[in-house]
Amino acid sequence: MIPVNRTRSQPRSGRSWSFTGTDYSEKRKSHILGKALAAFILIIFCIVTLKQCHSQSRPSPILSTSVFSFHEPGLTHVLVTGGAGYIGSHAALRLLKDSYRVTIVDNLSRGNIGAIRVLQEQFPEPGRLQFFFADLGDAKAVNQIFAENAFDAVMHFAAVAYVGESTLEPLRYYHNITANTLVVLEAMAAYGVKTLIYSSTCATYGEPETMPITEETPQLPINPYGKAKKMAEDIILDFSKNSDMAVMILRYFNVIGSDPEGRLGEAPRPELREHGRISGACFDAASGIIPGLKVKGTDYQTADGTCIRDYIDVTDLVDAHVKALDKARPNKIGIYNVGTGKGRSVKQFVEACKKATGFNIKVEYLDRRPGDYAEVYSDPSKINNELNWTARYTDLEESLRVAWRWQRAHQNGYESSKFMSPLFRLLPRF
Ligand SMILES: NC(=O)c1ccc[n+]([C@@H]2O[C@H](COP(=O)([O-])OP(=O)(O)OC[C@H]3O[C@@H](n4cnc5c(N)ncnc54)[C@H](O)[C@@H]3O)[C@@H](O)[C@H]2O)c1
Repeated sequence: MIPVNRTRSQPRSGRSWSFTGTDYSEKRKSHILGKALAAFILIIFCIVTLKQCHSQSRPSPILSTSVFSFHEPGLTHVLVTGGAGYIGSHAALRLLKDSYRVTIVDNLSRGNIGAIRVLQEQFPEPGRLQFFFADLGDAKAVNQIFAENAFDAVMHFAAVAYVGESTLEPLRYYHNITANTLVVLEAMAAYGVKTLIYSSTCATYGEPETMPITEETPQLPINPYGKAKKMAEDIILDFSKNSDMAVMILRYFNVIGSDPEGRLGEAPRPELREHGRISGACFDAASGIIPGLKVKGTDYQTADGTCIRDYIDVTDLVDAHVKALDKARPNKIGIYNVGTGKGRSVKQFVEACKKATGFNIKVEYLDRRPGDYAEVYSDPSKINNELNWTARYTDLEESLRVAWRWQRAHQNGYESSKFMSPLFRLLPRF
């Protein structure tokens, strides 16, 4: 520090101060410069301090004491997005049963808190399961979840997933599926999470000319749902080219059935019934919730004129996820169809449903639905060979019987409840 000897060199009104032995104007200039420098340093100091305060107010794994915030040797912590939904909840159940640590993120827009409660009741031990109520479109919330938790892998199920709805609300689909996948992927990259199992769909193939569909079949989706999923796949694949992320993309065919032990089921919101899937409509008709089934399209180029689909039981599907997770390796991309390899017509499905439920369901035949395709079934040989996975629950009637049992026991789906245990962590908006 320079010693300062201050003397008055001007009348009092001038109110200036001089340093001994220097010219007044130079002294004044340097004085102003000094003040400016000090102000500048003060501003920088304030900015840095504010930034530090802000970052410290956001929890980081180092500061958090939750067991979920530490990697534990021998324990794989999986983030299940959309885990309150139909497939995500079944996947979480299987992961928990297989001793994985599970964090579920869901905005409950379509899923059920009741499914989370069932999982929590099944696995109440600390450090097994936690739930975050958050929207994947909220990048801040997603980043905070990644900052607070030490994930080893992500199973990304969360999505809006109705073909018909996607033709009516395409922007919603691109946003929810494509843009949100980008948010998840960016968070994974930022927080070093190296394994992604992505829920894709046979809708990305569109209406191929040759059946069965292999993974090499060109992807030419014909509706916004399929297009949004294809775009999300492309984003993931482009990103993985310059990263060591392990990526498994599973393209599901039509998912049916429910947990054989009756703990979980499929319980879409009533307002989605009109967009719903065939099994839900079938059960609603059997329960008398709707007067009958509306089969859309009887003039397709198929044996009985109705659409042909490949129905995969949810228990087999989640098994494919666990096998994919097990076989996921850094720098490796695996793309697999998950189906039975066998197509069944809508008419066959309805007959199986009548037998499974014991009700004579009334059927009304209508014109085609926009965005639907005639015939879709998979060639599952790649997943059979590479992941050692085979569909085992291939008896359509039996899968429907299991699902029907759950439906009968849960006529209002997962009943709503205001109760939330301390394990449920609701994220505040920030
Ligand atoms: N069900 C099928 O037949 C089928 C077929 C092929 C692919 N898939 C894919 O499987 C996945 C799961 O489908 P599902 O049948 O379980 O659907 P679902 O509607 O039962 O579950 C989706 C879950 O994601 C949640 N979600 C949606 N948007 C969200 C958001 N922005 N933030 C947080 N959570 C959000 C919902 O609340 C719901 O719990 C989807 O990606 C779907 O595209 C399903």
